[in-house]
Amino acid sequence: SARRVTELKVNGASRALDADPEATLLGVLRDQLDLTGSKYGCGEGKCGACTVLIDGQAAHSCRIKVGTLAGRSITTIEGLAGPSGGLHTLQQAFLDLEAFQCAYCTPGMIMAAAGLLREKPEPAESEIVEAMQGNVCRCGTYTRIVAAIRRAAG
Ligand code: FES
Repeated sequence: SARRVTELKVNGASRALDADPEATLLGVLRDQLDLTGSKYGCGEGKCGACTVLIDGQAAHSCRIKVGTLAGRSITTIEGLAGPSGGLHTLQQAFLDLEAFQCAYCTPGMIMAAAGLLREKPEPAESEIVEAMQGNVCRCGTYTRIVAAIRRAAG
């Protein structure tokens, strides 16, 4: 049988765990590492509530098996704030522009946006809309989400 996963690099620290390599990253983050900012929405890679960064790239953690993550660096919403604890510019912009209603989608939205801005610090509006296609907001706050990402980029 496949070897257990005993270590993951999350938010800059090496975290000890004991997981089946087939377990999803989302399940391990939430249930073993107490990082519950990443949300379970669909479990099928369709809603984006579970979005994290893996080596700086946005990914749906519900679709990723922890056994594939040796040596990879994972960032969750909990690790996005600066070392001083101040909010990340995206977090501040979402707050300032009230880019949420129920806010269940917000951590995933922010992580998807963080992946975009890392790749493209000054995206056009069309590029923001394109990059956010994998993230669903059932409250329909898309206009404010795009505005918040534009503010953070500016
Ligand atoms: Fe992962 Fe919906 S919970 S995409």
